[in-house]
Amino acid sequence: MDGNKIVLETKRLVMRSYEKMDAESIFKVVSNREIAATTINIPHPYPRETADWWVNHVRDNIDKGTAYQFGLFKKDNPDEYIGNCGLVSISKEHNNGELGYFIDPGYWNKGYGTEACIKVLEFGFKVLGLERIYGKCMAKNFASKRVMEKSGLNDEGIAKNAVLKWGKYEDVCTLGLIRSDWTST
Ligand SMILES: CC(C)(COP(=O)(O)OP(=O)(O)OC[C@H]1O[C@@H](n2cnc3c(N)ncnc32)[C@H](O)[C@@H]1OP(=O)(O)O)[C@@H](O)C(=O)NCCC(=O)NCCS
Repeated sequence: MDGNKIVLETKRLVMRSYEKMDAESIFKVVSNREIAATTINIPHPYPRETADWWVNHVRDNIDKGTAYQFGLFKKDNPDEYIGNCGLVSISKEHNNGELGYFIDPGYWNKGYGTEACIKVLEFGFKVLGLERIYGKCMAKNFASKRVMEKSGLNDEGIAKNAVLKWGKYEDVCTLGLIRSDWTST
């Protein structure tokens, strides 16, 4: 499998590996303050050159099989980049992967995050053969927790004050799913 040529499809989305030319579109979405506010690693302001670095990083990770992230494009407007979803890290040793995603705030609460997440679970379990897929979100990030719940992940608890974001300690929830509990829908 050439990881940097993967194309997945859902009802409304084309999800594909990133190309260098995607950096500007990614920057426009990821530089929104609302995205940085609830993600653990995304800075704000987001330097434009970081988007170029990030695309290269994501492509290198796919080559190494250590992460698989996909750009989300609407089928009814294929040039429009609306966000990211994928496995942000893979442990080959333990055969598991961690979910990560963001959606352009203009498209929130329309089901795109969940639609993409469900497809990534299928990719992770069926194509990569992972045993476990999990995600972490700040406890205050109700939308992200809901995306994982709707995708079938189970609540595994809260780590108190696990991250320091913008000067404040935040509790972090973990949700997970193992292969035998996963049912393809
Ligand atoms: C998390 C995120 C990807 C969700 O994307 P989305 O496309 O809006 O997700 P969906 O539409 O599939 O589902 C959102 C769900 O959260 C619910 N929701 C949204 N805001 C909520 C809130 N403040 N309280 C409770 N539920 C909320 C929605 O009602 C919906 O659930 P429902 O279908 O049961 O009504 C998006 O909010 C985002 O990009 N946030 C910033 C980046 C981020 O936090 N990424 C995750 C890091 S862990």
